[in-house]
Amino acid sequence: MNMELEMEVITVTNVIKADDLSKVYRRVKRKEGIWGSIQGLWKRSYEEKTAVNKVSLQIGKGELVGLIGPNGAGKTTLIKMLTGIIAPTSGSINVLGYYPNDLKNGFKQRYAVVMGQKSQLFFELTTNDMLRLFKEIYGMSDSDYERNRAYFTELFQVKDLLDVQVRTLSLGERMKMELMTALLHNPEILFLDEPTIGLDAIASKQIRGFLKDINKDRGTTIILTSHYMEDIKAICQRSVVINHGSIVYDGQTQELFTRYQRNKKISLAFEQPTVFKERMEPGVMLEETPYRKVISVPKENANELLYRLMTYMPKDIMIEEDDIGTVVERIYKDGDAAYE
Ligand SMILES: Nc1ncnc2c1ncn2[C@@H]1O[C@H](COP(=O)(O)OP(=O)(O)O)[C@@H](O)[C@H]1O
Ligand SMILES: [Mg+2]
Repeated sequence: MNMELEMEVITVTNVIKADDLSKVYRRVKRKEGIWGSIQGLWKRSYEEKTAVNKVSLQIGKGELVGLIGPNGAGKTTLIKMLTGIIAPTSGSINVLGYYPNDLKNGFKQRYAVVMGQKSQLFFELTTNDMLRLFKEIYGMSDSDYERNRAYFTELFQVKDLLDVQVRTLSLGERMKMELMTALLHNPEILFLDEPTIGLDAIASKQIRGFLKDINKDRGTTIILTSHYMEDIKAICQRSVVINHGSIVYDGQTQELFTRYQRNKKISLAFEQPTVFKERMEPGVMLEETPYRKVISVPKENANELLYRLMTYMPKDIMIEEDDIGTVVERIYKDGDAAYE
């Protein structure tokens, strides 16, 4: 029997490969006051900031990867380099066989980028106008255009919104239109920078669901940045955690959360001034005033503690998971074990 025939061959094609990628921003530093401004005319001093520091990253076709890190970690800078908006200071970068910053037409046809903070839509036009415009820009055939338009109209349930001016849409509705116009030309990779920023919990959940569907239905590779853990946890199998420009974790999302998101934060509000008559161990009191208490507790002890806390009859209870800042701190504390 031929053994080779029985072996399943799985080949993963990398659509993104970056090695030792760095970006150093240089900005003019002006001295204070009028004299400082005048001096600056002939003698400029610069300040350098390493926003991305020797990042190496490979992403396979069809992956849905979460890029997560605190504010200022370098997420947007990394996305800008991968999409060619800015050139790296050093390192190598290959996306779909291209050097992104060359901005070749062939490259632009094959990816899309959506930035939560920056719209690519014209607010006075309607989504239908925008779609027709993008059809021309990408030179799409009528049949491809119609098919994709129908697919997204159905997926997002936006039939009634296509003919209203973009500026009248809610933020959540607008994000659907951003996605629709970005994905119209069937890009192989979709980059999203903070797509849920400013959205309420329901709209965020909806957008996350759509991304998952698009990744599954169309095999689109998706790279999504966020500083909300929920975004990543819900849909990304793989997480890349970035802090101060460097990758501090690259692995299974599930593993990231079970290992490093260990506590819950319980916040309580009281109608009457309240004093706890017992110790809250293993919980740690983070904040304690007569009307409000905040306690951090290991996940596995949260239920038992909550049960005890209920006897004090709080007016309001809020339970939160550790945020990305806390997770990053713990990755450092636990040392090398983190990065695999
Ligand atoms: N154009 C710029 N000039 C100088 N510094 C910048 C510029 N853009 C970003 N930075 C700095 O680079 C760091 C990373 O920024 P950014 O990539 O926007 O982080 P994130 O998206 O993770 O919040 C920050 O410290 C930020 O202040
Ligand atoms: Mg950012």
